[in-house]
Amino acid sequence: LRAVVLAGGLTFEREVSLSSGTQVVDALTRAGVDAELRDADGELLPGLAAAPADAVFIALHGATGEDGALRAVLDLAGIPYVGSPAAACRLAWDKPAAKSMVRTAGVATPDWVALPHSTFRELGAGAVLDLIVARLGMPLMVKPASGGSALGAQKVARVEDLPAAMVSCFAYGDTVLVERFVDGVELAVSVIDLGEGPEALPAVEIEPESGVFDYTSRYTPGLTEYHVPARVSAEVARRAAEVAVQAHRTLGLADLSRTDAIVSPDGEVHFLEVNVSPGLTETSMFPMAVEAAGHRLGDVLAQLLARRAE
Ligand code: DAL
Ligand code: MG
Repeated sequence: LRAVVLAGGLTFEREVSLSSGTQVVDALTRAGVDAELRDADGELLPGLAAAPADAVFIALHGATGEDGALRAVLDLAGIPYVGSPAAACRLAWDKPAAKSMVRTAGVATPDWVALPHSTFRELGAGAVLDLIVARLGMPLMVKPASGGSALGAQKVARVEDLPAAMVSCFAYGDTVLVERFVDGVELAVSVIDLGEGPEALPAVEIEPESGVFDYTSRYTPGLTEYHVPARVSAEVARRAAEVAVQAHRTLGLADLSRTDAIVSPDGEVHFLEVNVSPGLTETSMFPMAVEAAGHRLGDVLAQLLARRAE
């Protein structure tokens, strides 16, 4: 089996992706797969045409890799890849769209408003702030409507801090997602489908030393404590697994995903988002969950590649 692992690319998460890609190549090589890392730069398509692989593994984070664009191109070129199809990725990449679909399917998700930048020109900043506070109250989570690794995401406890938080998010894209802040236990629930339907792996509980699971807490070893399986009741663990599988199915995802959720003190599991290209770095939750389930990352990824290469 010859696999190309796509990583890097020109996104805000380039470094994270290179680190995921390197770990994937190592894991696949240990599992006996002939795997090669390729930077998803301008030479990507000629490179794939010149040296075709049996299947591609997309270890790209951020736009292009996660928003469906690259997958649509691979579809057109007839190159098989592991992971979700283009249209499903487009939905998952759009956090408000994903929340809306998952809520319709009966899953709790924090109340939200999604505001394109033009809203400020149309309504004026004062009216926008009034609208947000009237709908959602305080405190709030403010994040780019699309994106990963917590880039731009901030908790806002005072109305006067809201404009600056929103401005930071607009640096990452045209639309900002403002959610009611839910205080609770943060969980990441990975899902794999090896041909028998999507199955949730043990939930990973996230306990950042700083209290905030930001970019630094995510990728600096030692700054976050992870508990696998999560220290939650059997009932909450069961519900978290159900929510992750439900999100995976509702959005039409395939092969692998990771749902991020918060458990409020009353035991309700609130969906935050689902990642079609979960981090695979040495501090990432997907590999931890795979190991906790008694599998080896390389074996799982090799099986997914083999199925697509058929
Ligand atoms: N966006 C990062 C890589 C994650 O979801 O793990
Ligand atoms: Mg994410």
